[in-house]
Amino acid sequence: MLLKELSEAVAVSSREDEVRTLLKEHLSSSVDEVKTDRLGNLFCYKGWKESQPKILIAAHMDEVGLMVTKIEKDGFLRFQPVGSLDPRVLVSKPVVIGKEKVPGVIGAKPIHLQEPDERKKALDFKDLFIDIGVDSKAEAEGLVSLGDLVAFSTEYEELGDGIVKGKAFDDRAGCAVLAEILKRDYRLGLAGVFTVQEEVGARGAEVVGKTLEPDLTIVLEGTTAADVPEIEEHEGSTKMGYGPALTIMDGSVLPHRPTLDKLLKIAEANDIPIQFRRSTKGFTDAGSLQRGRGGIPTVVVSVPCRYIHSPACLVDTKDIENTVALIVEFLRSVEQEGVPS
Ligand code: CO
Repeated sequence: MLLKELSEAVAVSSREDEVRTLLKEHLSSSVDEVKTDRLGNLFCYKGWKESQPKILIAAHMDEVGLMVTKIEKDGFLRFQPVGSLDPRVLVSKPVVIGKEKVPGVIGAKPIHLQEPDERKKALDFKDLFIDIGVDSKAEAEGLVSLGDLVAFSTEYEELGDGIVKGKAFDDRAGCAVLAEILKRDYRLGLAGVFTVQEEVGARGAEVVGKTLEPDLTIVLEGTTAADVPEIEEHEGSTKMGYGPALTIMDGSVLPHRPTLDKLLKIAEANDIPIQFRRSTKGFTDAGSLQRGRGGIPTVVVSVPCRYIHSPACLVDTKDIENTVALIVEFLRSVEQEGVPS
């Protein structure tokens, strides 16, 4: 199953190779042309040169992780975050380090040795280290190097009725949706772009925005579902199992209203559940892509994911299917009526 493979592949920002290779192999027979730019963005074209209008759909391949910044004399590794990570989710988690996927565990001072005051404080990056089971710097240096990227080691599992657990559903859920969309045929120009380095500031998308000139851009994301205890409903951003979420504002984009209106109409006409993302925080590739040549109308459609940017996230596979259905129906409407304006 593609989502399982995508989730278990490692692609901390700037090291997206595994996910890119997986997608290339999966999609090369379904599209006209596959290209990779020098930053690593993967472009999958369908009818792009000859057909109008031109639609760009983007999903980012990279995930948040860590970088090894120091090897201590006793072989423990110090690290810094790559992308936005809450240090409180890290302690005792299994990880893999570097291209060779050296296994390790994130350690901290054990509770038995903590002073009463220390127990009340949340751990920060400086209080944590990675233990790779060696006892000297020399031994550690034989396995890892400074600058190695570190990813969570999380097995993909099915939990409840259509719910799955894995890592990096932000944005492997979006990648899975885009891969599925690219398998169908359309009477328009379509560029499916899998971007790099979104989690460190949408840098890959900035290059894509300078490369292609679409009539409309759709960004597919995995976004926070906060339908969990301790969060009031109005603060909850999105709900898992309630369908794709439309962004009405985030820290990087105010989406194209006519397209949002059209998406709502299509959802209603086709009985596809849909919701708004009730948060204005965060950023996505949309911020960079809308600033392409002349300004590009852009929307963001997200799959709700619980516990994003952590070692274990949940997603409802029905939300993934409904996101595919919504976008495919939307593209059918664009074939008939053009881009909403
Ligand atoms: Co994301």
